[in-house]
Amino acid sequence: MSLIISDLKVSREQTPIISGVSFTIAPGELHILSGVNGAGKSTLLNALMANPLYEVTAGSIVLDDTDLTSLPTYQRARHGLFLSLQSPPEVPGVPMDDFLRTSIEAITGERPHTLPFERDFQSALGLLRLDPKFAKRSLNEGFSGGEKKRSELLQLLMLKPKYALLDEPDSGLDQGAVGYLIEVITQLRQQGTGILLVTHYNHIITALHPTIVHHLKNGLLA
Ligand SMILES: Nc1ncnc2c1ncn2[C@@H]1O[C@H](COP(=O)(O)OP(=O)(O)O)[C@@H](O)[C@H]1O
Ligand SMILES: [Mg+2]
Repeated sequence: MSLIISDLKVSREQTPIISGVSFTIAPGELHILSGVNGAGKSTLLNALMANPLYEVTAGSIVLDDTDLTSLPTYQRARHGLFLSLQSPPEVPGVPMDDFLRTSIEAITGERPHTLPFERDFQSALGLLRLDPKFAKRSLNEGFSGGEKKRSELLQLLMLKPKYALLDEPDSGLDQGAVGYLIEVITQLRQQGTGILLVTHYNHIITALHPTIVHHLKNGLLA
């Protein structure tokens, strides 16, 4: 049981960006992805989640024995893959709690029961030090940079994916919020979620005790 990426090559508008990367994330492992701006970190994460702007030209992505390589995003999500975006979009008119209920239903095929949903929701809000009023605000609308990042972490805690791809979840967070990020990552790993996390910050890498740090350069991992 693991997420196995084998010799993956990815292009954007016919330009090769990822030139053949391989690694395997086991449940509960934390893999850090580092590299300079423009190295292709977001490209790799978007390709893993089947963003149609990115073309996988070779290689494979296998999650717990299911070959995801040619599956669209929603099917990858149903198999337990989650991507938190570097710049999450605003979705006016859709309150956070409705969005989360609908997302859980889309992934599991069942509308979540009210009591366990509310219990998990309150516990996630508490962990992220978010005001309960957050539940009724439209998804990311008018959120500060740090609030958008915490809204992504809220989705992560509620959806409980098998594998999470986190693109710079620490950008725009103040010192206190970095503390919650570390708690969220630790809790997810204890639940068995495998994580691929992009960050530029050495103090965050040190605090997270990762399984391994991958460095992306010239389209290859070092
Ligand atoms: N629309 C595009 N068309 C072609 N190349 C792009 C496009 N968008 C980004 N790129 C290029 O892809 C490369 C990787 O970008 P990105 O994956 O965002 O890097 P990182 O996340 O590591 O900073 C960069 O060289 C960037 O200029
Ligand atoms: Mg990026």
